[in-house]
Amino acid sequence: MIGFLKGLRRRLTTDVRSNWSRQWAKDDYRPHWMIDAIPQPVEAAVSDGFFAPGCSIIEFGCGQGEIAAFFADKGHRVVALDIAPPAIERARRRYGDAPASPHFLAGDVCRKLPIDDAFDCAFDRGCYHTLRSATERSAYLRNLLSILKPSGRFLLLHKTAFREECTPEVEARVRDELMEDLERHFSLIAWEGVQMSPHGERVMMGIAMRLQRSA
Ligand SMILES: C[S@@+](CC[C@H](N)C(=O)[O-])C[C@H]1O[C@@H](n2cnc3c(N)ncnc32)[C@H](O)[C@@H]1O
Repeated sequence: MIGFLKGLRRRLTTDVRSNWSRQWAKDDYRPHWMIDAIPQPVEAAVSDGFFAPGCSIIEFGCGQGEIAAFFADKGHRVVALDIAPPAIERARRRYGDAPASPHFLAGDVCRKLPIDDAFDCAFDRGCYHTLRSATERSAYLRNLLSILKPSGRFLLLHKTAFREECTPEVEARVRDELMEDLERHFSLIAWEGVQMSPHGERVMMGIAMRLQRSA
């Protein structure tokens, strides 16, 4: 039985990796959530010191690396992980030669991480919300807690609903559901509604949550 479950888990992981890799391997891959500019909550986290000057940042699900590169350019030591090797190759091609380049690594945030450093801060835009099961979400959180320092800060950008359906009640419900997963380890410092998709026919909305790990 345990062998069967392990095999199933391995197959599901392989599916996630190959699905994302297939997308990221296309030269013209430009999904609705891909950013044209650094999102305001990310800019603000750096400019108002939520991410303290010079602090180290781990990013989960970095895609092609625009936000990791922004953090590195602002003077942070950044390690950025993505499950899809083609995304990591693309990020290295785009930002690997920058004077301050993030360290881009292929890795599954729900499995053993390819790093064991401790970070002051963590960042995720759109990775946690792609996880399909409670098992994956708890593996993600276990991994996050294994590398985020006590009192470390976490900025999470997570989808809510398409703009037509995104009411204050929907935002509050998503926030509360997320806090059910997070509240054992994090306090919610602040949150706000954000737009997650800069282009595409339908606009996906989301919330940006500033969290702090317990001491
Ligand atoms: C919606 S995209 C967001 C990408 C990027 N953060 C951005 O804002 O443009 C989600 C990303 O998470 C990555 N991802 C999905 N599941 C993952 C996992 N288990 N471990 C690491 N990365 C994962 C995908 O390859 C994809 O790049």
